[in-house]
Amino acid sequence: MSRYDVVILGGGPGGYNAAIRAGQLGLKAACVEGRDTLGGTCLNVGCMPSKALLHASELYEAATGKAFAELGIEVQPRLNLAQMMKQKDDSVAGLTKGVEFLLRKNKVDWIKGWGHIDGPGLVTVTDSAGGKTRLQAKDIVIATGSEPTPLPGVEIDNLRILDSTGALSLSEVPKHLVVIGAGVIGLELGSVWRRLGAEVTVIEYLDRICPGVDAEAGKTLQRALGKQGIAFRLGTKVTRASSSADGVQLSLEPAAGGSAELLEADYVLVAIGRRPYTSGLGLENVGLSTDPRGMLANRQHRTEAPGVWAIGDVTSGPMLAHKAEDEAMACIEQIVGKAGEVNYALIPSVIYTRPELASVGQTEEQLKAEGRAYKVGKFPFTANSRAKINHETEGFAKVLADAQTDEILGVHLVGPSVSEMIGEYCVAMEFSASAEDIALTCHPHPTRSEALRQAAMNVEGMATQI
Ligand code: FAD
Ligand code: NAI
Repeated sequence: MSRYDVVILGGGPGGYNAAIRAGQLGLKAACVEGRDTLGGTCLNVGCMPSKALLHASELYEAATGKAFAELGIEVQPRLNLAQMMKQKDDSVAGLTKGVEFLLRKNKVDWIKGWGHIDGPGLVTVTDSAGGKTRLQAKDIVIATGSEPTPLPGVEIDNLRILDSTGALSLSEVPKHLVVIGAGVIGLELGSVWRRLGAEVTVIEYLDRICPGVDAEAGKTLQRALGKQGIAFRLGTKVTRASSSADGVQLSLEPAAGGSAELLEADYVLVAIGRRPYTSGLGLENVGLSTDPRGMLANRQHRTEAPGVWAIGDVTSGPMLAHKAEDEAMACIEQIVGKAGEVNYALIPSVIYTRPELASVGQTEEQLKAEGRAYKVGKFPFTANSRAKINHETEGFAKVLADAQTDEILGVHLVGPSVSEMIGEYCVAMEFSASAEDIALTCHPHPTRSEALRQAAMNVEGMATQI
């Protein structure tokens, strides 16, 4: 039996960041991961491979479409999908090796295999050959992540009916890809395959895309993606799908009820959300249970069982890598008696389409529901000089500020490279900045970030460039 201060189950952004922080703080730590590589969903089959394909497909579309030609660059590109997939896989391999290096550097043991909790402080790891390793720890951190939510009647085979992992590794461009779910995965991976030449239809149960996103920002994004050729069928449900060797037939119905219709596709991507991955972990051996979705409750990362903690996608809050990372650090700091804390009100989110959508803080709908008096400052990228010369003028920056105190309450950006700019407002809001603080801060010219300042100026109707 190997003894540790802390055993972490899962090697994703929650688990590996917890392991690294544990090593930094002098704990004897083990990270248990059943995959062949570290990095979890994010590095292996999530954030990183999807961004690799988004980047490559964006350049491909610019080269094949009007964008390059209008800049005076004449090329005749040809898609080499196998090479596009290979560079994605090579990047992923480099990143997962990087995590392995960081664990070694911080003296964390990677125990390869699937962990099972046998009782308080006891974990058994079973490796791929069936070998067992028994571990004992003062604290156990559950960071086992999430898996795609299945859709009854639409069985994922990753041949014709895909989950996100399947859709990241197709060996041909679909002629017609049907995406079920107009959420983050559907829009990002739908964009990848549309740019590479697929006809893409997105079917969404609700009457809007990306529920939870500021409605005005969501509508603007939908309009932009619609103009690019993605067809949206909102307020529609898929009741059944049957696949054959060369395609899939789907039955659709209006969500509110009505007559059914058939839709043909050669591939279908099911992206209706993810659910925590907690089954078969032995939770009952420490007296823990989950909600019906498999989610573990936590109070500042502690579960109801003493010495057992939960972080990342297995527990409440947005299923995002940076949220898992924040929880990881706060959890380990609490284990060593420090005051680690996560500010759940200020976790940014980004949809990496073109234009991108980036948000932090509250939406207009949330502020209205709370009855909070607020002011809006908006600035369109059509009026931003850098966006104009780069021919990237879709979208806007929107700042919501308290009507009395001017404190920034929410920021919603749709536009070019906004994923790289939302961090400015995350910092400002952590310091409880007012819109005037941003309005008075010098920003470099010519940059898209000037739109963020102009939006803040416009909270008082004082933008100077529209
Ligand atoms: P995971 O990353 O899921 O890691 C959990 C790990 O635990 C897995 O490797 C699993 O094999 C392992 N495990 C499970 N059970 C056991 C066990 N019993 N023993 C040992 N190991 C076990 N988020 C973003 O913030 N930005 C993005 O751009 C983004 N893009 C995404 C794109 C896609 C296609 C997907 C699917 C997700 C994306 N996400 C993104 C979400 C992000 O991947 C997750 O929020 C994040 O990975 C959660 O981290 P985690 O550590 O909680 O879990
Ligand atoms: P999601 O929750 O973002 O979107 C799912 C969509 O499917 C919603 O619009 C929902 O209304 C719809 N839906 C649910 N049931 C349906 C049904 N039966 N028929 C039709 N539509 C249905 O989930 P998604 O896209 O699967 O992503 C999972 C998680 O991964 C998200 O929580 C997200 O946080 C994370 N992720 C984050 C990314 C990022 O940060 N850029 C990228 C990709 C994933």
